[in-house]
Amino acid sequence: MNVLVIGNGGREHAIIMAIAKSPLVDKIYCMKGNAGIADLAECVDVDYCDRTAVGEWVDSHPDVEYTVIAPDDPLALGLADELEARGHRVFGPNQRAAQIESSKAFAKALMKKYKIPTAAYEIFDNYDDALQYIQKGRFPIVLKADGLALGKGVLICESLEEAKAGLKQIMLDKAFGAAGNVVVVEEFLQGKEFVPGEEVSILTFTDGKTIIPMIPSCDHKRVLDGDRGLNTGGMGTFTPCPFYDEAAAREVYERILIPTVQAMNAEGRPFKGVLYFGLMRTPDGMKVVEYNARFGDPETQVILPMLKTDLMEIFQAITDERLSDIKIEWEAGACVCVVLASGGYPQHYAKGMPIEIGTLDDDIIVYHAGTKRENGVLKTNGGRVLGICAKGESIAEAREKAYRNVKKIHFDGMQYRNDIGIKYNAKG
Ligand code: AMP
Ligand code: GLY
Repeated sequence: MNVLVIGNGGREHAIIMAIAKSPLVDKIYCMKGNAGIADLAECVDVDYCDRTAVGEWVDSHPDVEYTVIAPDDPLALGLADELEARGHRVFGPNQRAAQIESSKAFAKALMKKYKIPTAAYEIFDNYDDALQYIQKGRFPIVLKADGLALGKGVLICESLEEAKAGLKQIMLDKAFGAAGNVVVVEEFLQGKEFVPGEEVSILTFTDGKTIIPMIPSCDHKRVLDGDRGLNTGGMGTFTPCPFYDEAAAREVYERILIPTVQAMNAEGRPFKGVLYFGLMRTPDGMKVVEYNARFGDPETQVILPMLKTDLMEIFQAITDERLSDIKIEWEAGACVCVVLASGGYPQHYAKGMPIEIGTLDDDIIVYHAGTKRENGVLKTNGGRVLGICAKGESIAEAREKAYRNVKKIHFDGMQYRNDIGIKYNAKG
């Protein structure tokens, strides 16, 4: 079978590495791809947010039997609906189901209606009302732009001053564009032993009937060591998650995963694809911080190397709604991914810096995100550039291996966090 993968980051590189191993897969195309993906797939230069253009491309390539839609924006724009309407087989939720990510207001209302644990909140489509509300609020307070904002539309405000400035940034200055037409104002969740709380990403496979969690992972969203600085798309990840024990997994399955699948069905929006639960441990139990309608980036980069089952078989089973037939198996041990980003990310950064990669250990995985090849020279082409990933028996071993190899890579302005895999006492 020939497969098209939509997207161009480290997550897509990880998906392509996994399906390239499948005996079911012959040729892979990637729209648009990057320099690393180009080693495994034929890259196609079509704007994947243009539904019609993608639809026409797939129509004109009858050898493509299956399309995997990885990023949030084409899912939110209804690319799955477009391809299905044209008679193609697709992995990824339709537009109505993808709203669980593309509208935070929708997601919050869903959780309230179906009693899925989450932070208390109010929604405003008007700046003056929102301003009045925060003046009576408790601090810190959390402001979230309703729509998609590359993981950056969330502001944690310590004081009224900060909240006023944040509200102006989102609703008046439109720092996140139309995503800020509506704002969600949320209670700040306090952690059990840590502030602002221990977080875990639970990615799941679901066909709308069965939901199967993948192994737990932890992201590092802030740009600087010690969880300081601006929110990013994610600066590094590790698996497993030290505090996510069997009791937590059971609680999450019963109180969050199953109720969410049922809620989406009850709303007439059955979800088929990867449903991602961003969770926080609080004194009142695990709560949902966010949903994503897709694989996480860079969570996928540590999860998929541990997957023993054929990913393409899982994809097919979800499309055909027979996920309950599949047994999903994982390797034991740990995996750590350190993101190397351009200087200035997540704000302004330069592109086109030559990348030098020395001789790395054999078992290191180098994921490409924002890279391109120009006249044979590998260059930076985005905010997050590479993900350097290592496995080990423990998180400590995997982390040590990943950082030893990070030191052999260089480009001008390169920045990375030095503490990936250290939080939550992930020492062993
Ligand atoms: P989100 O994009 O919704 O995942 O938010 C980005 C990050 O902001 C999360 O990973 C949390 O660290 C933090 N955050 C979001 N909502 C809250 C909340 N209600 N309380 C505390 N921290 C939050
Ligand atoms: N790493 C967080 C996300 O993919 O949204």
